[in-house]
Amino acid sequence: MLNYLIILALLLTSTLGEQQQGLVLVKSDDENGNNDEVEIAPNTEQFDEEDLEVFQPSSEWQSIKPGQGIPPGLHVRMNLQTGEKEAKLMEGDDGTKYKTNKDSKQKFITIDKNVISKQRLKEALKDFRDKFHDENPDEEFSDQSHGPLPGGKTFRSIDEIRKELEGVDLFLKKDIEEISKHVQILNISSSSLVEKEHALDELEYYVHQIDNARDLDSIGGLSLVIKFMNSSEESLRKRACYVLGSAAQSNLVVQQSALNQGALPLLLRLLSKREPMVVRKKAMYALSSLLRLFLMGQKEFLKLNGLEMFVKLFDEAGTEPLVIKAITLMTDILTEQIEHVTSLLRKRGQDVSGDISGRVPLLKSMVEKGWCQLIPSLLRTTENDTREKVLQALHVMVTGCKSEFQKAHVQNSLKKLKLEWLKNASGPESSESSEYAGILAQLVTDLMSKLT
Ligand SMILES: *[C@@H]1O[C@H](CO)[C@@H](O)[C@H](O)[C@H]1NC(C)=O
Ligand SMILES: *[C@@H]1O[C@H](CO)[C@@H](O)[C@H](O)[C@H]1NC(C)=O
Ligand SMILES: *[C@@H]1O[C@H](CO)[C@@H](O)[C@H](O)[C@H]1NC(C)=O
Ligand SMILES: *[C@@H]1O[C@H](CO)[C@@H](O)[C@H](O)[C@H]1NC(C)=O
Repeated sequence: MLNYLIILALLLTSTLGEQQQGLVLVKSDDENGNNDEVEIAPNTEQFDEEDLEVFQPSSEWQSIKPGQGIPPGLHVRMNLQTGEKEAKLMEGDDGTKYKTNKDSKQKFITIDKNVISKQRLKEALKDFRDKFHDENPDEEFSDQSHGPLPGGKTFRSIDEIRKELEGVDLFLKKDIEEISKHVQILNISSSSLVEKEHALDELEYYVHQIDNARDLDSIGGLSLVIKFMNSSEESLRKRACYVLGSAAQSNLVVQQSALNQGALPLLLRLLSKREPMVVRKKAMYALSSLLRLFLMGQKEFLKLNGLEMFVKLFDEAGTEPLVIKAITLMTDILTEQIEHVTSLLRKRGQDVSGDISGRVPLLKSMVEKGWCQLIPSLLRTTENDTREKVLQALHVMVTGCKSEFQKAHVQNSLKKLKLEWLKNASGPESSESSEYAGILAQLVTDLMSKLT
């Protein structure tokens, strides 16, 4: 007697390594028990997307026809017994956006043919990571990491996140095998450059998922990645930084492990002038991931003279994108540290209105190393982006730098900028750019009030 089993198989298409998920009918011959030799039927069904009607999501589960495209942003689930796939709108989504978009083809994912594209999945995971990040600015702030969070905030449980990823979760189950495969390629010295590049690219995709990044570390892959950050091949250094950055993002276990394995001094070296800009940018990305929400890393960064490395960037021509990232990172870390110290002081019933800079490690170092004069000088740039970041930095630094800012006549530069922006805010330019000018002018006004 022949039984038909339906097996969910992850098939890898030939060259691109795109994941393809298909339902595959497998013949299973129970009578002669010859189960190891079952043949997997090739997934030959071809669907013509043109012929299929577009899935119209509602708040109820509806079944998706084979080959039918569905818009991104839905809950998707699959019945493992029947193989039937269903989708519905996310909570609180009224679905209007799908109605207006129903003719634009590229907005749709085809479930059977290409599953959800890598890019799309990556974006979804990034979203989660960002949400996670935003909701928990105080994670790991104290050295004893597991106390209750200030302000009664709680972490979302992994289960809750999984639930939100319902459907997507299906695609992650076999990840550890894929990850090991790519790690092996990196570990074989005879692998070609192209093979290694590809392995790193693939790993970069997987490690956005928190558990995958931890798995990478526990099988020894993270240490290989860090080793590749020191490769003589530029393309491998760049990619290795990218993998580390994605793996460490809001991932305490990976941050700790990477720090212990000496990633930080390597990253600081990769920021130097000797390196091509592409490598430096990825190193900056990795550095940000390694340091955010991770006090131990932040302290180590100060110990290794990371601030001086940044000052060198400010002095060099053509480093604008790196400078913006460096200032943004410093501003974010300062905000983290200041919020932490203030909430501690409040809890103890102490005054928080005075100068607390001595208790904020980064601000203390910045004051000592002359950043109170350095940052205002960056206002001279004509790049709006940089100016905006510099203003935000001045905003958080003002608690430790008030007198230096006053001495450096920051007020005067601010006044000039404010006038210019106010003019632009009411000027004839497009509303978007005048709105932006308005926001900047407001930022300046706030800052000026703090300086008087
Ligand atoms: C790399 O290969 C060596 C020996 O060939 C092995 O001892 C080591 O565990 C491997 N590392 C990883 C991460 O697979
Ligand atoms: C990086 O490579 C250089 C040689 O190119 C070596 O001297 C150094 O020890 C390596 N550093 C690490 C952390 O592997
Ligand atoms: C204001 O607008 C002018 C041109 O309309 C532009 O050159 C100038 O850079 C703008 N100023 C600021 C501060 O953005
Ligand atoms: C800065 O923003 C203003 C609008 O506020 C715009 O007129 C100007 O062109 C921008 N400058 C640059 C360099 O983007």
